[in-house]
Amino acid sequence: MTDLTLTPERERLRQELAVAVRAKPVPTHIGIIMDGNGRWAKQRGLTRIRGHQVGARRVKTVVRFADKLGVRHISLYAFSVENWARPSFEVSALMRLIRAYIVRERNDLHAENARFRIIGRVAELAPEIIEEARQSTELMKNNTGLTLNLCINYGGRAEIVDAVKKLVAEGLRPEQVTEEAIARRLYAPDLPDPDLIVRTSGEMRISNFLLWECAYSELYVTDVLWPDFDEVELLRAIQAYQGRERRFGKTGDQIGGKR
Ligand code: IPE
Ligand code: IPE
Ligand code: MG
Repeated sequence: MTDLTLTPERERLRQELAVAVRAKPVPTHIGIIMDGNGRWAKQRGLTRIRGHQVGARRVKTVVRFADKLGVRHISLYAFSVENWARPSFEVSALMRLIRAYIVRERNDLHAENARFRIIGRVAELAPEIIEEARQSTELMKNNTGLTLNLCINYGGRAEIVDAVKKLVAEGLRPEQVTEEAIARRLYAPDLPDPDLIVRTSGEMRISNFLLWECAYSELYVTDVLWPDFDEVELLRAIQAYQGRERRFGKTGDQIGGKR
């Protein structure tokens, strides 16, 4: 079994970087496109499914550490609406892993004061997954720590379409269709937009992730494959974010920036 604990050398690096990262504001909400399980497995002569298994175990180390750093919301892209097009055995394996993850981590997440929810077209998922997720959400609903948003059967365009359907069903007049009106009808209306979106495995694309919400997110792409994305890599991503100047359309001078 692949060991995900840090080597002593890596642990020293983690501590060193953590001091620097904790000295500045950390992102409130981080979204992660967890890509590269297949390539990770291929490099080792393993099956893609094995890569997904290690990738699923990796989630725990990253979520835990993000919580320790003071991140309030983490949104993990686990299965896109496009991923149904993969070979059926891979889709089934991913769904089994997702369900197993929800069940296995429930008590630990609860003990860590986390909250949990699924984001996506939930109704199209298998009833067992819907039920296990419901139990987790219910169990943790009064917790006050980090919120874990697991994006399953998620698509950014689908989310906007679903929000617009709600607007139409409610009979809003054209002048009532505002950005706020749409934002209030997204899957998780209370969730602040991500400050930082991380993509592992080098691809410079958004792949239909949080399209509405990412309007002003900082993007960070690393070549590191998801199963290898450890605590040190999370710190590197946050450190890169902390070095950015977020302008939101203004000039550098207006926001008192450096550039
Ligand atoms: C990410 O890893 C997991 C999912 C998309 C479900 P991939 O399976 O996409 O890995 P690569 O991109 O083939 O390496
Ligand atoms: C994005 O990864 C979806 C998830 C991580 C769940 P993909 O591997 O599906 O993305 P593309 O196909 O390379 O854009
Ligand atoms: Mg991929």
